[in-house]
Amino acid sequence: MNSTTDLVMNYKQEYIASTTSPEQFWLDKAHNIEWFSAPETAIASAENGYQSWFKGGQLNNSYLALDHHVNAGRGEKAALIYDSPVTNTTRTYTYNELLNEVATFAGALQGLGVSKGDRVIIYMPMIPQAAIAMLACARLGAIHSVVFGGFAANELAVRIDDATPSFIITASCGIEGAKQIPYKPLVDKAIENASHKPNGCVVFQRPQLHAELDSSFDHDWHSLMENSSPVSAVKVDATDPLYILYTSGTTGKPKGVVRDNGGHAVALHYSMGALYGIDKNDIFWAASDVGWVVGHSYIVYGPLIKGATSVMYEGKPVGTPDAGAFWRMIERHSINILFAAPTAFRAIRKEDPEGEFIKQYDLSSLRTIFMAGERLDPPTYYWTLEKTNKPVVDHWWQTETGWPICSNPMGIEPMATKPGSSSVPTPGFNVKVLKGPDTEAEPGEKGSIAIQLPLPPGCLSTIWQDHSRLVNGYLREFEGYYSTGDNGYIDDEGYVFIMGRTDDVINVAGHRLSTGEMEEVLAAHPAIAECSVIGINDALKGQLPVGLVLLKDGANIEESELEKELVAQVRQSIGPVACFKRAIVVKRLPKTRSGKILRKLLRQIAADEPISVPSTIDDPSSVDEIAALMRDKGLVEAVNV
Ligand code: COA
Ligand code: AMP
Repeated sequence: MNSTTDLVMNYKQEYIASTTSPEQFWLDKAHNIEWFSAPETAIASAENGYQSWFKGGQLNNSYLALDHHVNAGRGEKAALIYDSPVTNTTRTYTYNELLNEVATFAGALQGLGVSKGDRVIIYMPMIPQAAIAMLACARLGAIHSVVFGGFAANELAVRIDDATPSFIITASCGIEGAKQIPYKPLVDKAIENASHKPNGCVVFQRPQLHAELDSSFDHDWHSLMENSSPVSAVKVDATDPLYILYTSGTTGKPKGVVRDNGGHAVALHYSMGALYGIDKNDIFWAASDVGWVVGHSYIVYGPLIKGATSVMYEGKPVGTPDAGAFWRMIERHSINILFAAPTAFRAIRKEDPEGEFIKQYDLSSLRTIFMAGERLDPPTYYWTLEKTNKPVVDHWWQTETGWPICSNPMGIEPMATKPGSSSVPTPGFNVKVLKGPDTEAEPGEKGSIAIQLPLPPGCLSTIWQDHSRLVNGYLREFEGYYSTGDNGYIDDEGYVFIMGRTDDVINVAGHRLSTGEMEEVLAAHPAIAECSVIGINDALKGQLPVGLVLLKDGANIEESELEKELVAQVRQSIGPVACFKRAIVVKRLPKTRSGKILRKLLRQIAADEPISVPSTIDDPSSVDEIAALMRDKGLVEAVNV
């Protein structure tokens, strides 16, 4: 059914068509994927009162990613290239091979009783079995929820209780540089801590570390595969959930972003061509992790639905073994598009400022470098551009949207770059800067960035088990709009500049974390009366969390000992990914008269920005006091980005 090209109009025409006639625009795009039963409408109202896409359509994302290409005679083409410098392994799966693995693992899951609508949690390192598990769930219509390996058992337990999975799929270990991280004990502990108990756990045993299995609960991946047969993809409704992906909000409880099946497939297929300029013959590498939205959309589903080749990398930009890793990968696999977080390039630049490694490799296959996950700071932009001599594109998106809200549409009409900007709104996203419920900002004027409803296909359809969280968290602030939680401005040529979050979410090494969640962990310490966690600038990771803590009267603990205990507590409760390494004791925290901690003011002090002291402050002298203390502790512009 496929294959009219997406790239028929220029950007302006395409954008206007998408925002003025979204129904027609997206029905046209929907014709580019194969449906079991094609939808007759694009946008409809959902039962929960929100929007839904392609109601009445039936399809299967695993079928689209695999069977569709095999049926079209492309079974011998490379689907997935796995490259793991930490285990010295490279393996290419053709579409035929990947389909066989996925269909057989789906058969195994079915044999265990997993069926349409069941949830399955996947807690895995960056190995092909993670993608196989995701696609196998999709094949059965089971809803997967992948949890990033850098989260601790407690975080996994919270997700188990929210998603109530029938099974968990894991591996015996992850490999982080030179360290082996045993995953199975973490999973066991999470299940022990959770109130919900899954029916069992499937474990992929890696040769590097053997996990002890409990024969009454655990199932060995390899034995299951030997004893199972491939099964076909089931028909699911376009509006059925494909996956839940948890992301940090302002409270301690993560939000389960739900993605539907139909909008997801249409949007990702469109984005591969329109934004990344990818076709079937291309090799696409998103250097992220399957635990993040980038991994879902652009390691697993997007490139495969497009019929291209996706690269899966189990390593770091530096240290596995050196700062030439990215360039070596590009030469070795003839990669056409690279997508990674700016923090990865800052890590490379730190070790190889002159780009000596770049000179050692042939980068002729590489067309464009895309960056996202955090703002692409101009020094990193210029360094990457100058050293690689390739176009560098900053594009902005979030777990909730599933694909870029703003980008340089390389497949429609490549546009001039403005460093510091993530370029222009993507077709489908009607982006506005708002100063108040009915007031749009002027060009160049800062405000809250919101997207006029309806959101395009592929964005969140609800928050798992809590639709009111979508309504209250995203749709209430500005009626008729989705609030992104980011602020910034649009210039007079329509370029969007994202300046940072309006809430208490921080971004550490391209990972989104909640300061509220860290505060809950610190507040549980018996010596702490009150606390605030803020993000301070960091030259490598963009931001790092720092805890400012107020002791209870009579608490008797050395500051260095307290810091050690708090660091351990955050690592144990949230995980190493939080990168929480600093906590300082303060005498007072600046507050409003109603007792609210002035976090924005603390952030301004740390960033050495002009301070705006609100008139509602309780005790203005606390500002100078805390500024002096933070300077003293080396927390003010600790390292400038
Ligand atoms: N499983 C277990 N532990 C993990 C993990 C995983 N999947 N990922 C990270 N961790 C651990 C790390 O080992 C580290 O532990 P440590 O404190 O014991 O050293 C900790 O979590 C922090 O990890 P990270 O922030 O990734 O730091 P790093 O020093 O290992 O690597 C970068 C730094 C910049 C190279 C790395 O953060 C990076 O590549 N970031 C890109 C992120 C990204 O792709 N984001 C998605 C948007 S595109
Ligand atoms: P996540 O949901 O983890 O992908 O994080 C989304 C958040 O990361 C956004 O709301 C932004 O705050 C930030 N972000 C992602 N990409 C960019 C970008 N290109 N420029 C600026 N901020 C970004």
